[in-house]
Amino acid sequence: MANHRRRHHHLHHNITSSNRLSRRFLPAITSIVGVLFLCFFVLSFLAPRPSRLLHHGRTRSSSSSSDDDASVGVSISSVPAIGGKTKHDIWRSKDSEFFYGCSNASSKFIKADIITRRNRYLMIATSGGLNQQRTGIIDAVAAARILNVTLVVPKLDQRSYWKDASNFEDIFDIDWFISFLSNDVKILKELPNGPKVTTMRVPRKCNERCYEKRVLPVIMKRHAVRLTKFDYRLANRLETDLQKLRCRVNYQALKFTSPILDMGKLLVQRMRAMSKHFIALHLRFEPDMLAFSGCYYGGGDKEKKELGAIRKRWKTLHGSNPDKARRQGRCPLTPEEVGLMLRALGYSKDVHIYVASGEVYRGEETLAPLKMLFPNFHSKDTIASKEELESFSGFSSRMAALDFIVCDESDVFVTNNNGNMAKILAGRRRYFGHKPTIRPNAKKLNKLFLNKGNMTWEEFSSKARSYQRGFMGLPHESRPGRGEFHENPATCICENSDAKAMRDANLRKFGTGKDPFKKEEETEDHDADDESESTDPDTDGDVLLQERQPANETMLDYEGFSTEEPELEDMLSD
Ligand SMILES: *[C@@H]1O[C@H](CO)[C@@H](O)[C@H](O)[C@H]1NC(C)=O
Ligand SMILES: *[C@@H]1O[C@H](CO)[C@@H](O)[C@H](O)[C@H]1NC(C)=O
Ligand SMILES: *[C@@H]1O[C@H](CO)[C@@H](O)[C@H](O)[C@H]1NC(C)=O
Ligand SMILES: *[C@@H]1O[C@H](CO)[C@@H](O)[C@H](O)[C@H]1NC(C)=O
Repeated sequence: MANHRRRHHHLHHNITSSNRLSRRFLPAITSIVGVLFLCFFVLSFLAPRPSRLLHHGRTRSSSSSSDDDASVGVSISSVPAIGGKTKHDIWRSKDSEFFYGCSNASSKFIKADIITRRNRYLMIATSGGLNQQRTGIIDAVAAARILNVTLVVPKLDQRSYWKDASNFEDIFDIDWFISFLSNDVKILKELPNGPKVTTMRVPRKCNERCYEKRVLPVIMKRHAVRLTKFDYRLANRLETDLQKLRCRVNYQALKFTSPILDMGKLLVQRMRAMSKHFIALHLRFEPDMLAFSGCYYGGGDKEKKELGAIRKRWKTLHGSNPDKARRQGRCPLTPEEVGLMLRALGYSKDVHIYVASGEVYRGEETLAPLKMLFPNFHSKDTIASKEELESFSGFSSRMAALDFIVCDESDVFVTNNNGNMAKILAGRRRYFGHKPTIRPNAKKLNKLFLNKGNMTWEEFSSKARSYQRGFMGLPHESRPGRGEFHENPATCICENSDAKAMRDANLRKFGTGKDPFKKEEETEDHDADDESESTDPDTDGDVLLQERQPANETMLDYEGFSTEEPELEDMLSD
């Protein structure tokens, strides 16, 4: 469809053109701003409630809060410039030094050349955005291992919503991939001449037995099988050596090609040159996504009309119920809300923030409050030149890979969504030392944002901090087996318990006498309204990505909704 937005070029256009504009019109803008400021100053003596002028109109709460005293009510202007008092280091996770990624095979794991059966080939067709395709590639290696067959290097999905003509070898180092996994699974670049390919599809979350029952007989008979639409086709729970194999694929074998790695490193270097620490935000706020969420973002009739028109494109979407969606935590935080949350968590105004996003609904207007909260606002288009990005910008997957690298390397990673990139990075950052990863507790925060007009900044920030407990990427935040494996690779995270025991003993001997692991503040809010727990993540059946979150991880999950629109599914699968 003609009005389809592709994420990366759009932000590019928006930002570069606005930069050019602002350079050209800077003198004019400065004087206009000066005049406006003067007007505001004069008005502030005449108008009864000056605080409302700075209160940003697009926030959800503007309706409930406007009649309050100027000293009450959280607005951008009321946020203190320096971060609040936090006892812990906001740039690292407590106790992370006691954990490490462990994905080596056990001694029982037989070498691939012994178990691989001749003349049996597995192929897969990946689907969705780069990160969903990545989960498919990882699962394909494990599936080939279950079946004792040779894997053919997966073809990337070039026809999805994200439209990218790149091949596997344009994104990932193909020779490294094959050689690194040579003891685990035999992998070939192409299917050898001979067998004709049989195409089939396996159910979602198929486990070892399921592959042996459904795929093995076909491979034995026909020799080459291609599994179509290979997204989330492998169970979350597998035996330990297969889980470790998944981690080896994800964290070691899948390496971006050097042009991507080099450019990614350059972006990270430029961020580091500006400040010691930085936050990376993966923001999804495209019109399509907002329309799908069915939420209301405070933009009045104009917004209802615009998003409503987009919704009509998809016939199977039901009518929206914005209040319910918000109660269920299904509304992505707005850029302003992300900014307020971060400031509440103690990140001060001078912190540098790298924003990875596609097209943002209403562009600059939507981003303005976040830029006021964090004026050191960057994206790859502001820290790299058009020429430097030239070989990437026509390819959504390569652009996504660059953002992946910067987000991965950031000191603190924050998302406003629960898509595949957010999940894979959350898992990856756990594996590589529990780097702080903030995922909004949307259900709780949505309520807080609604009421922010009648509380002080101190109340607001203390509540926000308490709601975010359990959503910060700390060790032990999520129990093993919870969530998707790519998000919570618990089997591949080991604890150095001796070191920890020694530290604890020292603390008891010389410390304050307090339990070092006791939470610093008590949670004032018990998750009574959260849904019941499911102990087995694989019992949900074949519903699209239907994954029940742990009781205290009920965050935004638009993927929990099955949709019959393949295009819509792709758009959600970043
Ligand atoms: C995993 O194996 C590699 C190579 O054999 C070795 O260097 C490394 O120490 C092992 N890691 C762990 C955690 O055992
Ligand atoms: C794969 O090989 C292993 C080791 O020989 C064997 O235990 C397993 O049953 C084989 N699986 C299939 C599906 O052939
Ligand atoms: C703010 O208002 C909401 C509902 O209008 C109420 O639930 C909440 O308790 C109020 N908060 C404060 C701090 O007064
Ligand atoms: C999550 O919830 C479980 C029980 O519902 C609780 O034991 C655990 O401590 C909670 N985790 C966090 C980080 O709050």
